[in-house]
Amino acid sequence: MSENSPKKLLEAAARVMENAYAPYSKFRVGSALLTDDGAIVTGCNVENSSFGLTNCAERTALFAAIASGKTKFQAIAIVADGDQKPYPCGACRQVLAEFCSPKMPVYVASRGELDAFESTTLGNLLPKAFRL
Ligand code: THU
Repeated sequence: MSENSPKKLLEAAARVMENAYAPYSKFRVGSALLTDDGAIVTGCNVENSSFGLTNCAERTALFAAIASGKTKFQAIAIVADGDQKPYPCGACRQVLAEFCSPKMPVYVASRGELDAFESTTLGNLLPKAFRL
């Protein structure tokens, strides 16, 4: 992974955040996955009037990647509107753990402060993920 990839990935997440459909929470989120072959696959949150049907940005990105035949990932970036860093929800952590290594870097930033991103790992966010 090249040195500038966190920034590139965060910028891709910030761009796709503009497509978020979040009329209920007004909390727009974008996510970008770096695949093992260097491609970037993005996704945004898509809300629904039946709130429980909402899809988070991370799962939108992951499902788009899987549907396009990409199943191995080097890193994920997540960006949200405003000042808040959008740490992935529990459901997304578990879904990411299905395909991604615990060592995979997770970059989290607010749109207002992309450069102040935090870098953690999936294993740090979800130790002892459930597995069959
Ligand atoms: N959301 C995400 O897309 N990703 C996260 O990491 C946390 C929450 C979305 C779901 C919903 O549309 C909105 O943020 C408020 O919960």
